[in-house]
Amino acid sequence: MVYYVKQGNLPRYRHTYDDRKNLLREELFGEESFDGLYSLLYHRNEPTRVLDIKEEKKEFDPSGEKKMIHRHLKTSKLAREGDPVSGRRYLFYNDRIRIGLVKPSVKMKRYFRHALSEQLFFLHRGKATFSSVFGTMQLETGDYLYIPKGTTWSMNGTEDLVLLFMESRDRIDLPVRYRNGYGQLREGTPYYTRDIRHPVLDAKPFLPDKLEVMVDYNDSYLIESRDREIYDLEGWDGYLFPYTINISDMAPIVGKLHQPPPVHETFSGKSFMIGTFLPRLFDFHPRSIPISYYHNNIDTDEFLFYSSGSFMSRKGIEEGSITLHVRGIIHGPQPGAIEAAIGAKSTDEVAVMIEAYDPLFLTRTAIGIEDKTYMKSWIG
Ligand SMILES: [Fe+2]
Repeated sequence: MVYYVKQGNLPRYRHTYDDRKNLLREELFGEESFDGLYSLLYHRNEPTRVLDIKEEKKEFDPSGEKKMIHRHLKTSKLAREGDPVSGRRYLFYNDRIRIGLVKPSVKMKRYFRHALSEQLFFLHRGKATFSSVFGTMQLETGDYLYIPKGTTWSMNGTEDLVLLFMESRDRIDLPVRYRNGYGQLREGTPYYTRDIRHPVLDAKPFLPDKLEVMVDYNDSYLIESRDREIYDLEGWDGYLFPYTINISDMAPIVGKLHQPPPVHETFSGKSFMIGTFLPRLFDFHPRSIPISYYHNNIDTDEFLFYSSGSFMSRKGIEEGSITLHVRGIIHGPQPGAIEAAIGAKSTDEVAVMIEAYDPLFLTRTAIGIEDKTYMKSWIG
């Protein structure tokens, strides 16, 4: 749950009309059949008007690699290609989530809808216009963008646009422990309701050329052809809609002693936890060791995307690097890192962490950009 939003013009009551000569077509956009989180959408056209549906192949390239060792990928080696959807390069996956990067080079020509997965983007570089049936939002570097599954959307960005993304079969939500019994964000959380932005219906949308929707079923597409405007809402209201939050609006939690990753939690779900490491002051105990201690994540795989700043606990890491620290093998600071960190007062790092509760596997794309020396980086 986020909060209640109302946009545009709505009939006074649900399931009724105000003007018989100008009937609006009401759609329930809802989870868990008619019982979950939902919004009510009022279309000018009949939303069911689909002229044709055809199948299209989707590229997904699991590597078959089963060796579970720590990994380092350099995403600077990925070429700029495709649009924000066709340019998705999957890097890690399991049955519940898929993680990858997009560096688009062209505009979207068709609309997009994910039939199976919730979507979360992180704008590593650039700006974009995100449009959807709910309206439009302007995105900036540092924005997280959440898109509920089933949402029809399009995006157009600047030439330098780079997005990290995660697709999840499970709901991507605000952490339950951040909300009080009424659903409101509690005091003491790293962000507040006021920091969350929602789509605005009357803003100028980005409209792709073709009235076609690519519907993603994870391993294949269905292409839906239409003959009427797709973003055709007169109004909508409810609790289920895309939203964004910028990391610069967040307030990282710091302490006298080193704070563990859960204090940096941003989103959560049944099969993952997402955290954001932000520029912050370090611990203020006079003998504090300001970087992470060695840790053994006995039931999670730990994905980290290094977005900007200096990453003092890791050797050989650059902006756009990704590390995966797997369960079963301990990890932590490399030789000399603790000694170098003592006395440091602050960090300017920005990194996105995804803790996956099921093991993550690599795609062939990931293997192609791997720094194969990483596993040896703990022996100096
Ligand atoms: Fe770690």
